Amino acid sequence: MPKLGKLGLRVLKIVHLILAGLWVGGAIGLNIMVFLFSSAESGGELYGYNIASKLVDDLLIIPGAMGCLVTGLLFSLFSNWGFFKHRWLAVKWVLTVFCILFGTFYLGPTVNDQPAISYAEGLGALADPTWIANRLTSLKGGAIQVFLILFMVAISVIKPWGLRKKVTS
Ligand code: HEM
Repeated sequence: MPKLGKLGLRVLKIVHLILAGLWVGGAIGLNIMVFLFSSAESGGELYGYNIASKLVDDLLIIPGAMGCLVTGLLFSLFSNWGFFKHRWLAVKWVLTVFCILFGTFYLGPTVNDQPAISYAEGLGALADPTWIANRLTSLKGGAIQVFLILFMVAISVIKPWGLRKKVTS
C-alpha cells in the first residue's frame, strides 16, 4: 500500500482534527440543549429546541463522526500507523464504530422523533410519554457517548499502552 508523504499526513491530520472537533462540539452542544428542554416556556420555543437539536445532529455530529471514520481509515491505510499495531489505535477503532452504531440506532431516533411531537402538541409534549422517554434516553445515552468521545481524544493525545506486536516496518 503506498504511503502519504509529510505534507499529505499533515493535511490529513488537520482535516481529522477539524472533524473530531465537530463531533465533540456537536455532541456536547446537543446534550446541553436536550438538558435545557424542560425549561421551555412556549410550544414554539420547545419545537425550536427540538428542531435545532436535530440540525446539530444532522449537520455537525453525523458529518463529524463519519468524517473521523473516513479520515481514520485513510490514516490506517496510507500511513505507518496501521489498523491494530498500536493498542490505543485498536481501541479507537472499536470505540468509533461502537459510537457510530450506538448513535445511529439508539440515540438518533430519540432526537429525530421529537420535533414532530412538539410541533403537534406544543408544551403538552412535556407530558407526552414518548417525548419524555426520548429525552431521558437521549440524556443518559448522550452522556455515555460524550464520555467515550472525550476518552478517544485523550488516548489520541497520550497514545498509551504501547504496541500490540513488534513492528518491523
Ligand atoms: C477509526 C477511527 C480513527 C482512527 C483510525 C484514527 C486515527 C488517528 C491517528 C493515526 C492519529 C495520529 C496522527 C498523527 O499524530 O500523525 C490520530 C490523531 C488524533 N485523533 Fe484520531 N482516529 C480515529 C477516530 C478519532 C476520533 C473519533 C477522535 C475524536 C473524536 C479522534 C481524535 C484524534 C485527535 C484529537 C488526534 C490528535 C492527537 C495528537 O496528535 O496529539 N480520532 N487519529
